[in-house]
Amino acid sequence: MARSTGVDVLTGAGLDEALSGADAVIDVTNTFATDPAQAEDFFSTATGNLLAAGQRAGVRHHVLLSIVGLDRVRGNGHYHGKRRQEQLVQAGPVPWTILRATQFFDLAAMVVSWTADHGAAAIPPLLVQPVAVADVAAALAEVVTGPPRRTSLDVAGPEPQDFVDMARRTLAARRDPTRLVPSWRGGPFGVEMAGEVLLPGPEARLGTTTFDAWLAEIATAADGA
Ligand SMILES: NC(=O)c1ccc[n+]([C@@H]2O[C@H](COP(=O)([O-])OP(=O)(O)OC[C@H]3O[C@@H](n4cnc5c(N)ncnc54)[C@H](OP(=O)(O)O)[C@@H]3O)[C@@H](O)[C@H]2O)c1
Repeated sequence: MARSTGVDVLTGAGLDEALSGADAVIDVTNTFATDPAQAEDFFSTATGNLLAAGQRAGVRHHVLLSIVGLDRVRGNGHYHGKRRQEQLVQAGPVPWTILRATQFFDLAAMVVSWTADHGAAAIPPLLVQPVAVADVAAALAEVVTGPPRRTSLDVAGPEPQDFVDMARRTLAARRDPTRLVPSWRGGPFGVEMAGEVLLPGPEARLGTTTFDAWLAEIATAADGA
């Protein structure tokens, strides 16, 4: 379900038709809103609509993709909205599991694309344990085919990384000359994300794809382009 396939979780358009006959829902919708009120508005409306439509359709398992460290980060609008989303799922009418993932491998380059200005980009010096989207998808598939856990589980990548270094190496693989400026200002992630708040707990499921392997794929694609 996506607006590009004719389903809008905010207005509810196409939702009942899309959920007809569905046993389970995996919610991976997103908003680019960084303002706390706007992010909360998106996630509460979208999640309320999805849960209500799921109940009407007899959905037996609602799986939500969320973020590792959500409770430890205050002062970030996206995280504020995601906390509200988790609360709605936990209190909602459909049995649920929440899978919290760490940052995806492409996030550092995405932040660069948001902050780039006249050949330079601000990038926060985060400590992260990023994960391949394919490993998150595999974890979601495993969770959704199991019973509702009514708890949250963490999924992360195999090793910690320095976010500035991730951005630098991704830009190099893409032959992108943008200059990086390590900074807590100018982007969506502020100093509230310093330290170890974004790292997974010891019980996290770890994906097997390394950042190096993902980078090698990026470099091959860039060379072929
Ligand atoms: N990116 C990360 O590093 C990361 C890490 C941990 C957790 N997460 C969480 O994972 C989730 C997905 O993140 P992402 O980075 O994969 O997001 P994304 O690439 O922006 O994808 C969001 C999806 O939501 C759909 N969507 C947006 N508004 C919609 C609407 N009104 N109705 C129906 N579909 C809508 C979009 O399709 P259309 O535009 O076609 O509607 C798109 O398919 C988020 O909740 C995020 O918090 C992300």
